[in-house]
Amino acid sequence: MTSMLLSSTSQTQIFHNIRAFQPIPHLHPYRTTCLAPLPCRSRSIRCAGSTAVADTGSTRELKQGIAELYDESSAVWEDIWGDHMHHGFYYPDEVVSGSDSDHRAAQFRMIQEALSFAGVSEDPEKGPKTVVDVGCGIGGSSRYIARKFGAKCQGITLSPFQAQRANALAETEGLADKVSFQVADALEQPFPDGQFDLVWSMESGEHMPDKRKFVGELARVAAPGATIVIVTWCHRVLGPSEESLQPWEMKHLKKICDAYYLPDWCSTADYVNLLESLSLQDIKTADWSQYVAPFWPAVIRSALTWKGLTSLLRSGMKTIRGALVMPLMIEGYKKGLIKFAIITCRKPE
Ligand SMILES: C[S@@+](CC[C@H](N)C(=O)[O-])C[C@H]1O[C@@H](n2cnc3c(N)ncnc32)[C@H](O)[C@@H]1O
Repeated sequence: MTSMLLSSTSQTQIFHNIRAFQPIPHLHPYRTTCLAPLPCRSRSIRCAGSTAVADTGSTRELKQGIAELYDESSAVWEDIWGDHMHHGFYYPDEVVSGSDSDHRAAQFRMIQEALSFAGVSEDPEKGPKTVVDVGCGIGGSSRYIARKFGAKCQGITLSPFQAQRANALAETEGLADKVSFQVADALEQPFPDGQFDLVWSMESGEHMPDKRKFVGELARVAAPGATIVIVTWCHRVLGPSEESLQPWEMKHLKKICDAYYLPDWCSTADYVNLLESLSLQDIKTADWSQYVAPFWPAVIRSALTWKGLTSLLRSGMKTIRGALVMPLMIEGYKKGLIKFAIITCRKPE
């Protein structure tokens, strides 16, 4: 029931958003990472690890930073939050008790709502049979989807620890014949063209230094008629008279980029432009920021428990730096700078 309610809310948002996302005739500094057709020569801000497309040295550094961040932090996260390394989805009228089970249920709901928003059938017979999980973490989404649809899932991550842990969990949970994980780059996926009928990226897009290449790879590995789901952090859509984000906004994002190994951010409108340029169909977007609002306060509370603090101290500097910028995520959402976005589309038959 609530789900149906949300679906209609989401539909309203889609149309609202799509109206707002008219193609933008000129390039903005913050848009160049994803929009420049050639290696970018942008004025865009450079975050830690951030890179122009052609700057392979920086790209290598960024990838290494991401791999080390997740190698270091994934066990701590799993210990406290379980095997889903993404926001939870909370209903607006939901009373969040703060228990672990509430938050884990919200993380499952995020996957369910994303599938439903993308129009993936609930019917296991009609659901996807081959899935790629791009930026798979320790494989939470893949195992969920494999169970739900009996699908074969292949996950890729930059973190050797995550790939190994994801495979171990698959083995323990009796899913080793269905799901498998490897270290590979989302921008150069180790798969042939047209392979998967669901292409899934849950909170990995924000790490991609070249959004055009990222989306291009998602489209390339998708089979004809496949659904593509991108759930990701974006910055707000720029107004018609804006050339870039405000200086304070850039400064704010830069601190987050430094801690989480993120390159330049882009907006949902930028993703829509990219998908359109690849002739992808049924493009839908929504801003789910309000549905994820309880998430970061809960993560901070869990970090401040005895278990959280001792685990953090044992984990390493990258994890600690990540924990220290968590309040900036909350502030960014509150100020309308950060948007939790879902973007879905279909590859033409
Ligand atoms: C926040 S975690 C999300 C994990 C998982 N999707 C989940 O929801 O549990 C981000 C993931 O993106 C992966 N990632 C970032 N950049 C990547 C790249 N270029 N290629 C492959 N994976 C990447 C990281 O290794 C990590 O697994």
